[in-house]
Amino acid sequence: MARLKVGVVISGRGSNLQALIEAARDPAYPAEIVLVVSNVPGTGGLARAEQAGIPAETVDHRGFVGRQPFEEALTGTLERAGVELVCLAGFMRIVTEGFIAHWHDRLINIHPSLLPAFPGLDTHARALAAGVKLAGCTVHFVRAEVDHGPIVGQAAVPVLPGDTADALAARVLEAEHRLFPLCLRLVAEGRVRVAHEATEIDGLGPPGAPLINPAPE
Ligand code: GAR
Repeated sequence: MARLKVGVVISGRGSNLQALIEAARDPAYPAEIVLVVSNVPGTGGLARAEQAGIPAETVDHRGFVGRQPFEEALTGTLERAGVELVCLAGFMRIVTEGFIAHWHDRLINIHPSLLPAFPGLDTHARALAAGVKLAGCTVHFVRAEVDHGPIVGQAAVPVLPGDTADALAARVLEAEHRLFPLCLRLVAEGRVRVAHEATEIDGLGPPGAPLINPAPE
C-alpha cells in the first residue's frame, strides 16, 4: 500500500521530528516523511532531516511581509514535494485561516498540554502554577482558534513534588515522542474520522488503566 506523504514543519530542535523519522524508518509504517520545512534557518531539526536523508528546506517568515504570503510560500513548498498531510512539530508561528482551510483535516499539531487546558505558550509553568496533578500532551487537527481542534490523542504524565517547568517539560516531551508517531500512524491508516469536531478512531484495543496521581496506596 502506498504510504501517506507527510511534510513536517518545525521551528527548532526537532526532537518530535526525530521520533517521527524513527517511526517512519519501518517500511510497514503507513506514512513517509517526504519533506521537512523550518521557518528558522539553521535549526537542529534541519540537521536531523539531512542526517536522515530527508529533503529539508527553510522558508524564513522574515523574508515575507505578513503571514499570508509566508503561508502561501509554505504551502507551495509542501505541495511541490507532493505532501498530503502536514505535521506541525514544534512550529512556533500562528497559522491563519487561509492555511488552515487549505489543509483542512490534513494538518495536525502537537501541543505540550492536555488541551483544552493551557493553550498557548509556557504550558508547563502554567500547569505547575495551577497545581494540576496530571500534565501531558495532545495531538489534534488544526482549527482557526489557536491550539483547538479535533483531538486525535493525548498522553498524560504525573506532576511530581518539586517539579520545575523544565523537569515537567522533559517528562511531557518523552510522552510526546510516543504519542505523535502513534497518532500519525492512526491518521495515515485512515482510521481517524472527524465528526462534529471530535474524532472517532476505528479498531482501537481496550484503553489502559487510569493514571492516578498521587499513586493509590
Ligand atoms: C514540543 O514540546 C512541542 O509540543 C512544542 O514545542 C516543542 C518542540 O520540541 N510545541 C508547541 O509549543 C507548539 N505551540 P521539538 O522541536 O524538540 O519537537
